[in-house]
Amino acid sequence: MTKSRSSWQSNLGFLLAAIGSAIGLGNIWRFSYMAHQYGGGAFLIPYLVALLIAGIPIMLLEYGVGHREKGSSPLSFARLDSRFEWLGWWMPVVAMFGIMLYYSVVIGWCVNYLFFAFNLSWGNDPQAFFFKDFLQLSDSASILGGIRIPIAFSTMLVWILCWLICFRDIRHGIEKASFIFMPILFLLTIIIVAWTVTLEGAGDAIANHYLRADWSKINLFAADPVVRKGAGEVWAAAFGQIFFTLSLGFGIMITYASYLPEKSDIGKNAVITCVVNCLYSFIAGFAVFGIVGFMAHSQNASFADAIKGGPQLAFVVYPKAISMLPSMNSLFGVLFFMMLVIAGFTSGVSLIEAFSCSITDKFDWPRKRVVTCLCLAGYAGSLIFTTRGGLYLLDIADHFVTNYGLILGGILECLLVGWVLQAHVLRNHINKQGSNIPAVWNLLIRYTTPLILIYLLYLSLDADLAKNYGDYPTDQLILYGGGWLLVCLLAALIFAFSRWEAKKLKRRHLPEEDELLV
Ligand code: ALA
Repeated sequence: MTKSRSSWQSNLGFLLAAIGSAIGLGNIWRFSYMAHQYGGGAFLIPYLVALLIAGIPIMLLEYGVGHREKGSSPLSFARLDSRFEWLGWWMPVVAMFGIMLYYSVVIGWCVNYLFFAFNLSWGNDPQAFFFKDFLQLSDSASILGGIRIPIAFSTMLVWILCWLICFRDIRHGIEKASFIFMPILFLLTIIIVAWTVTLEGAGDAIANHYLRADWSKINLFAADPVVRKGAGEVWAAAFGQIFFTLSLGFGIMITYASYLPEKSDIGKNAVITCVVNCLYSFIAGFAVFGIVGFMAHSQNASFADAIKGGPQLAFVVYPKAISMLPSMNSLFGVLFFMMLVIAGFTSGVSLIEAFSCSITDKFDWPRKRVVTCLCLAGYAGSLIFTTRGGLYLLDIADHFVTNYGLILGGILECLLVGWVLQAHVLRNHINKQGSNIPAVWNLLIRYTTPLILIYLLYLSLDADLAKNYGDYPTDQLILYGGGWLLVCLLAALIFAFSRWEAKKLKRRHLPEEDELLV
């Protein structure tokens, strides 16, 4: 007999954990700077299309597979077709070693800034403080330049906290933590957004820069090839963001759904997770654009001069704006960085869970030992991102993992379910739980979604081959981008190589359960 699998205590607990995984640093800061960079309100269109064409359908797929096969992604995929087990490993390996290693460091920065906020340590020049004093950024990606002790220390705290949560079984660890942290996160977000929109200049910036669209940036059919190419990048970025923000292609949602009881409305859960997550991003955008608008107004500068992309948005623009607030600056700063820490941390535990569950499923090692070893190894691995050159490595890793790693995982899982299992079989399973997924989902999973994702993969590749991402040297891109993904692939193949105990792969479903329902 295989050991009985732990399960969520309630559907609400599952939903809070899944939404906690989805809502992360990506929603508050990655989404906002993408929206700004890619045409303000116009970015919301590709984002919405990506949500409908890829986000919701693949969320249904991942919940459905996890629930039907009752396993982490390697176990679930191996049960569907053993030739795809490596894909089941690829996803959590990328999540753990492609994303969590740098993600934990960014949460670590937020922890540092939470403390800096108490006395506004960044002073009058937050940009110099961030790059010169805090990161002590080296001159290029090829110079690592030693570990930054304060960052290594805060990153350690993040790993310890994640370890404390993941150490316990799902019900007493992640579920309990989600019940505590998610309401706090929502409350903090409401306070920050409400506070921000009342600031002078905020409303103007939201109306003119967030909600007003620059349509030319998303026109895939423009006559001008440069505009067309630019638009292609925007669409690729929107799909990449949807994968990142919904934690798709990480193996997380498959694992989380595997802990659901037999009878669960998967369709409803998938739609709720996607909608709450994307609504959260949209609302958080008000806070980000609002605060930049306030800053621009206070400095008599233009919005374009006030906003900065990438990590600078949270760690330069925000501190600057916080210092300029008319009152209660420290309180605002503490609440803002606390919001980031909680959002990041509830996603971090899910990144660890997807991988640790895969290991325990396959090798039957005790969960506590697996989580402890993983957190130790993870912390050791993340130290590279705490070096003075860490920001460059983080930027390169993030670009490759999001634009290639996750999208590739998404395409292959669509093919596995659409063509090997057959989409209608999974749809049948989901609908038997009380959902009513329309037949068009079969078409999306078999044709539309993978074809669009393949096209976007081509667009990303085309853009990266035409011009080095971020103007980084080619050898650094190969080493920390392509090389990193290759190492993840090798690790996935190695994990997939060892054999399963035959009884674990036994199909849980009888063929008559898979009757046609097209
Ligand atoms: N879904 C998580 C985020 O958006 C990883 O940050």
